Amino acid sequence: MKIKESLKTHGQWVGKWTFILAATGSAVGLGNIWGFPYKAGTNGGGAFVLIYLACILIVGLPIMMSEIFLGRRSGTSPVNALRIAAHDTNSSQSWRFVGWSGLAAGIFILSFYSVIAGICINYIFIAAQSSEIVNSAEKFNEVTSSPYNLLFWHSLFIFLTAFIVSLGIKSGIERMVKILMPMLGFLLIFMVISSAINGDFNKAIEFLFAPDFDQVNSQTFLSAMGQAFFSLSLGMGSIMAYGAYMPKDENIVSTSFSVGSLDTLVAILAGLAIFPIIFAFNMEPNSGPGLVFISILTAFNQMEFGNFLGPIFFILLTIAALSSSISLLEPSVAYFAEKQILSRKSSAIAISLFAWTLGIGSALSFNLLSDFYIYDRNFLDFMDFIANQILLPLGGMLIAIFVGWFIPDNLIKEETGDFALFKLWKFFIKFVAPTAVFIIFVSQFI
Ligand code: PFF
Repeated sequence: MKIKESLKTHGQWVGKWTFILAATGSAVGLGNIWGFPYKAGTNGGGAFVLIYLACILIVGLPIMMSEIFLGRRSGTSPVNALRIAAHDTNSSQSWRFVGWSGLAAGIFILSFYSVIAGICINYIFIAAQSSEIVNSAEKFNEVTSSPYNLLFWHSLFIFLTAFIVSLGIKSGIERMVKILMPMLGFLLIFMVISSAINGDFNKAIEFLFAPDFDQVNSQTFLSAMGQAFFSLSLGMGSIMAYGAYMPKDENIVSTSFSVGSLDTLVAILAGLAIFPIIFAFNMEPNSGPGLVFISILTAFNQMEFGNFLGPIFFILLTIAALSSSISLLEPSVAYFAEKQILSRKSSAIAISLFAWTLGIGSALSFNLLSDFYIYDRNFLDFMDFIANQILLPLGGMLIAIFVGWFIPDNLIKEETGDFALFKLWKFFIKFVAPTAVFIIFVSQFI
């Protein structure tokens, strides 16, 4: 393995649970708590949830296993993980571009993710005064119409992200997820219980679990698949990068199931935290991206202890966002550090500065640049489109094709062991996942 010898090593997670915590931290984010409820809300509730679960099982989990396999096999960043696997199987070195596209996707996503996460931090303070807020739509407008305000919170969030990543695997990421993830679990359960007490829980259950197939169209599939990729952090190398730090004696198959299940559980719990109060205060579940910032604030405003529960909700959202954003930055930082182009610290600073600059466009798309459109999308939506609708599905599909068609079974089993569902997994990764992603990917342009 010549390629590997020229690279600086990164170290490993300590303990059996760390990979699961870190990967779940990456997976659980704004996508679960902000994205999933509003997408379920605008796509017909239960029917969307069912299709989403199918995407996770058929496409998400097989690709997640492949990413962890590639990462752990090499112990390097995604670009080099693909280079090494291509080298060892006499495949084309062009496969490394899948790694590169992942690094680009991570930086694009980080740039706007940080703007939205910044708004979440801002809302911790706003929600503390929610009883005084008369009109939450107006409040949202006030928050987002000031470029300085958005840029301030965006800068703070990206600084926190870069700081954690710059400290390294053990003292940075591992330490943070061990603190953040238990907090997140606790706060989420607290929010669900308080929603069950204060809200209309039955209606929320019915909305999320009773499928109404009249509302299903091709857009539903596209949205569910996109959500599955984004939510599981697939197609861009975050999970691959984290897999690189996974000790060799850990089981790839069972950890993938754990991460996939925990991520799905959190998305559903987030729905159960949000919809009961939306219904109890007679608001519409399908209000779109504004669901958590506008509708939820209106609900807290009318609720007993709203000034206390509101901030907790937004702290929850911020924690989830932070444990994800570090995984968006890590793959690029790992690449720069292992190639010794820059030290880990300098890489974290340089790359986050780049993402920060790109994020200015997204922050301004709420105000100064609100009339600036690229292909009918404002800047933030355009970044989101490039990353989530193009780069992640393409990356995921190519990873599936590479692992399914180019890596011999014996090499795979060296990492995963011989597991009961190997044949089924192989069938999914070879045929089902690439075809499903391809059809859904192409259908969006027709
Ligand atoms: N999975 C995160 C979420 O649901 O918010 C977002 C994300 C993180 C996407 C890392 C992609 C990624 F590589």
